[in-house]
Amino acid sequence: MISDETLIQLLADGHFHSGEELALQLNVSRTAVWKRLKKLSALGLAVESVKGRGYRLSQPLELLNKELIEHHLPESSQAVIDQLMLLSLIDSTNSHLLGKAKSNHISSKANVCLAEYQSGGRGRRGRQWVSPYGSNLYLSIDWQFDGGVAALEGLSLAVGVVIVRALSSFDLSDVSLKWPNDILMDGEKLGGVLIEVVGDHAGPCRAVIGVGINVNMPAQDIEIDQPWVDLKGVSRNHLAAALIHELIEMLTLFESDGLKEYMKEWQQLDAFKGKMVSVISGQKIVSGLCCGIADNGALVIDVDGVKQNMHGGELSLRLSHEP
Ligand code: BTN
Repeated sequence: MISDETLIQLLADGHFHSGEELALQLNVSRTAVWKRLKKLSALGLAVESVKGRGYRLSQPLELLNKELIEHHLPESSQAVIDQLMLLSLIDSTNSHLLGKAKSNHISSKANVCLAEYQSGGRGRRGRQWVSPYGSNLYLSIDWQFDGGVAALEGLSLAVGVVIVRALSSFDLSDVSLKWPNDILMDGEKLGGVLIEVVGDHAGPCRAVIGVGINVNMPAQDIEIDQPWVDLKGVSRNHLAAALIHELIEMLTLFESDGLKEYMKEWQQLDAFKGKMVSVISGQKIVSGLCCGIADNGALVIDVDGVKQNMHGGELSLRLSHEP
């Protein structure tokens, strides 16, 4: 049985490898190699085959590397993390940490889980998060909060702010935030955040914060139902380290001070402030002028001169027409 992982590691350089060479390295027949190569497309990998030269991936991959991530992760953050898990194939990094939290397998302050591929990547409002192998970043971090679920108010907004901070070291154009926590680049979706909570509503609880960032989306067969953009060329390992560090710093501060440290920055990054928007919740649509956020992280909409605060993870925000 050839491991997908070893085969992908051999092909990750984007160079041609002959069937013979791959068979030798994996210690299997060339037919077995060929069968396995055919299956890689199910993981979102495109393999090109050229007679006389062999096989190669249509784009090289920078695979996740624990040593490299740790090398770029400041000691202060490493000290807080109990486990830094790098997985190859998983249903969802959020589900993985939630499962551990539910079965009480976690007692530490924080753990981080990254995966090369998610077979059941999850977005907000029950949507799928497209997660091809080795191309983007799928990261979850869990954090023990002692103050119950109320202490998490506004957390998703603070997460958005620190994702933008992590991205700022990569010299990107026009990164902004769309309430509650979509990351936009040039107005198109670059990433998103899914926060899930396990535990006591009043007592200790554990938040699992999942972050998906499009880094190198493969060109073929990507079905995403909204305009998206990716970072192209940014190192996944460097970005992972920057994100983990910013998240750990933020979570430490958020626990004592809540959203207030991040309010001003969020307002500055707000992609929709001053624009006419519609907030959709199931069949209900509220339209008005987007006035930014309230102290508790609610979205403030001016509907015919009356300000309304909108909360909740199930809401969806759309631009309507300009004022
Ligand atoms: C959204 O914008 O809808 C949120 C997307 C969140 C995706 C990330 S990828 C890592 C983590 N695992 C998941 O299954 N989802 C989150």
